[in-house]
Amino acid sequence: MTKKAAETAAGPAFFVAAEQHFPKGTRLIDDDLTGRLLPLGARVMVWLMRPAWIRDWMLGMMDKKYPGIVALFPCRKRYIEEKVAEAVASQVERVVNLGAGSDTLAYRLPALAGVPVWEVDQPENIDLKRSGLEKALGQVPAHVTLVSIDFDREDLVDVLASHGYALDKRTFFILEAVTQYLTEPGIRSTFEFLAKAPAGSRLVFTYVSKDFMEGKALHGLDSLHERLVVKDQTWLFGMDPEGVPDFLDGYGWRVLEHVGSKELAERYVTPTGRTLQSMPIEPVVYAEKM
Ligand SMILES: C[S@@+](CC[C@H](N)C(=O)[O-])C[C@H]1O[C@@H](n2cnc3c(N)ncnc32)[C@H](O)[C@@H]1O
Repeated sequence: MTKKAAETAAGPAFFVAAEQHFPKGTRLIDDDLTGRLLPLGARVMVWLMRPAWIRDWMLGMMDKKYPGIVALFPCRKRYIEEKVAEAVASQVERVVNLGAGSDTLAYRLPALAGVPVWEVDQPENIDLKRSGLEKALGQVPAHVTLVSIDFDREDLVDVLASHGYALDKRTFFILEAVTQYLTEPGIRSTFEFLAKAPAGSRLVFTYVSKDFMEGKALHGLDSLHERLVVKDQTWLFGMDPEGVPDFLDGYGWRVLEHVGSKELAERYVTPTGRTLQSMPIEPVVYAEKM
């Protein structure tokens, strides 16, 4: 199961890389590194999308098949960029990106240049990240530590401690597009780890709504549900939006913002003049440790 989950890291990276073919100002996110971390097949696909008509045709087809997929990843990455930059300026001293995949926040956000960041993921993705960064940047930048783990089977406290991270300083935790891949015990142990964070720490996490997981609210994403939930069973865990505050409270966190796809599209798509929806099944939660 986790092997299939490991393969999903290229999905967000593909759409972020494709955005770089839009002129500045109409692009949803600026990130010239992600494309260089993609596996060869995906890199070729992105390269083929350089002519605007091919780019628009391919992204249009994808957005038709999975409504909202083009804007989903760039919009929430923009949101996370903003929250991390604010928190680093005032509140937190380090960042732990859980299930970082090919995400490039640690490398593209100027506010993180001198801030220790731990990027945590399954061993195959950590190996890919290390070799991709070495090719693209010459080395893994000194402020970043790459950490291999399986959240479903290993203890985050111990594994991170063996890589120099202790829960003794306020930290910004990111859990972006990860919770749906975890088993219930994996979710529990991840949030038990987060429960030990010092007060004032921050967390952004995304989750897939339970209604979608149960097939009750598919939002035109029937084929995605059929593939990820029913057939491959890659997505395992969903949450009821109403239950999020109590769920977090149980681990000592309180919700600061709970943001849906409409709000994200208004913030990050509308200013570009493009007319895109963002996928409505995966809200973003911003929280503070009490
Ligand atoms: C869809 S990707 C998201 C990557 C990145 N957070 C982003 O949004 O660009 C999901 C990531 O979660 C990681 N993941 C899933 N299950 C995991 C587990 N049991 N242990 C560690 N990482 C896991 C995958 O390897 C993958 O990199």
